[in-house]
Amino acid sequence: MACRNMETAKQARDEIKAESKNPNLIIKYVDVSSLKSVREFAKDIIDTEQVIDVLIHNAGVAQGYFNRPTADGLEFTMATNYYGPFLLTHLLIEPLKRSQQGRIVVVSSKLYRYAGVKRDLSNINPLNYFSLFPVHLYNLSKFVEIMFTQELARRLEGTRVTANCLHPGVIDTGIWRNIPFPISLLFKPIQMCFRTPEEGARTTVYLTISPDVEQISGQYFRNCKVTELNQRVQDKEIQGKLWDASRVLVKLTEDDSRI
Ligand SMILES: NC(=O)c1ccc[n+]([C@@H]2O[C@H](COP(=O)([O-])OP(=O)(O)OC[C@H]3O[C@@H](n4cnc5c(N)ncnc54)[C@H](OP(=O)(O)O)[C@@H]3O)[C@@H](O)[C@H]2O)c1
Repeated sequence: MACRNMETAKQARDEIKAESKNPNLIIKYVDVSSLKSVREFAKDIIDTEQVIDVLIHNAGVAQGYFNRPTADGLEFTMATNYYGPFLLTHLLIEPLKRSQQGRIVVVSSKLYRYAGVKRDLSNINPLNYFSLFPVHLYNLSKFVEIMFTQELARRLEGTRVTANCLHPGVIDTGIWRNIPFPISLLFKPIQMCFRTPEEGARTTVYLTISPDVEQISGQYFRNCKVTELNQRVQDKEIQGKLWDASRVLVKLTEDDSRI
């Protein structure tokens, strides 16, 4: 399990160990919004693990309206939700290929539908992009996550690695912490009707362990079922351009694996 907050990571590890009776649970530090941290984490994994069976991209942030740059010059929400996972996937692809059946699972969101993506891709590092639409950076990040998953699945054809993405449902988690006061007061009772984290994890767990999906790749799941996506997010030409632009933005080198 890779986390940026080692205190909460330790708590989660201890809870899982106590319930599962499995002592072999290791926690490692990674800040997925930082390309340096992603590279350090990946190197540690490559040095210690021969095979990776599943890579789950779950970390995510939902900022309000605020674009802000990371030390790498990437917009923060996009760096956390998309660019970090894009880089990490490249750096860990070889041990995934060594698995009997490697799986990459991307936790996206149905809010992808509300993303503003231009065909010329001029806003994929949206440092100066402003929209009145709530959480537009989050929506954009979830849109490109789906594009990434489909392009990745095509590029992995002929290997034993699959890539799928999902909407987990609307869940009562920390993701809602940035709702501003006093809207947050009104929102609290609504939030209590959302799925519990356990319920929200079901589709992710299904894609991680179910034999039903061994042969399925490039799909979007809701409630453990393949679900239709809109046409806009499935544009193969834009997916390919996004891939190439992302390679440059995360500074992949000739020494890194190509997918
Ligand atoms: N909740 C929903 O209704 C909902 C709906 C659709 C999709 N999703 C997706 O579900 C995924 C999980 O979110 P959640 O709802 O469980 O929200 P959450 O409670 O806020 O969890 C997000 C997790 O991501 C971690 N994280 C954030 N930035 C990170 C970084 N730079 N490096 C490493 N870890 C980082 C957080 O770590 P810290 O503990 O350090 O903050 C936290 O553990 C996200 O991808 C989200 O977009 C959620």
